Amino acid sequence: MNRVAGIHRIALQVGNLDQVSRFYRDLWGMELVRADAQEHQFRSHGVAEPDLVFHAGPKAGLEYLALAVRSAADLDAILARVEKAGHKGLIAERSDREATLRDPDGNLVKLVVAPKAGLVREVAEPAQGPRKIGHIVLWTPQREVMEKFYALLGLGVSDRTARGMSFMRCNTDHHSVAFVDSKGKTGLQHIAFDVGTLDGVMHQKARLEAGGVPCVWGLGRHGPGNNLFTYYLDPAKTCIEFYGELEQIPDGEIPPEPRYWGPEHKGDQWGLAGPPPAAFTGEAH
Ligand SMILES: [Fe+2]
Repeated sequence: MNRVAGIHRIALQVGNLDQVSRFYRDLWGMELVRADAQEHQFRSHGVAEPDLVFHAGPKAGLEYLALAVRSAADLDAILARVEKAGHKGLIAERSDREATLRDPDGNLVKLVVAPKAGLVREVAEPAQGPRKIGHIVLWTPQREVMEKFYALLGLGVSDRTARGMSFMRCNTDHHSVAFVDSKGKTGLQHIAFDVGTLDGVMHQKARLEAGGVPCVWGLGRHGPGNNLFTYYLDPAKTCIEFYGELEQIPDGEIPPEPRYWGPEHKGDQWGLAGPPPAAFTGEAH
């Protein structure tokens, strides 16, 4: 099946562009590849193109999620599937290389032809900063509806949890997009950056803490995805994760039988990290 290949780029709007940009350059460890008064573009160390973009603006939060597709033919096939399912009106813009849609929650989703999607270079550990953006998690009051829409883009459900999450994948990563139940809130819950192994996760943690950025949840090991996790807040209070050792699922196994994690699973397999803090669960907002 033609499907998206992974996260191509995430764009966020922020009130204080310079402050946020300094954080991602000097502390989070990404490469600032382009900057003007309105837009700063960052690149993780293992990918070909900028994968995180900030725009100055009053509406803080997710501006768009861009998902990579490998070819124009894949783009055509995915859009045909979306239209056939009755979502024709959602396709706001269209060119040969890119299409813009709105998902059922109203999030802007771009599909971008990017043949070099994913990791294109080895990053020696310990790296200063991420190899790539691995996944995004979105709040949603209609998780089933969102699952169905993203399935049209070619994502398959890996796992669901009693705590109200669905994890979806489109490449060998256990999840690239996930959803978490809300009472009405939509948009970004967190962005997760791949730093390889346990060593990578711990080096980043030490580096950030030395820079005055505390880890707000972790170190732990999640159930779904089995990844090592550490969470932080950027200056805009956006929740961001450095993770390692995410479960890899061979491409041919899409779609497998989704697993279900019952209420006994609290988020950390070890029982070391404790429950997620308010900054993560959204109770602070
Ligand atoms: Fe995550």
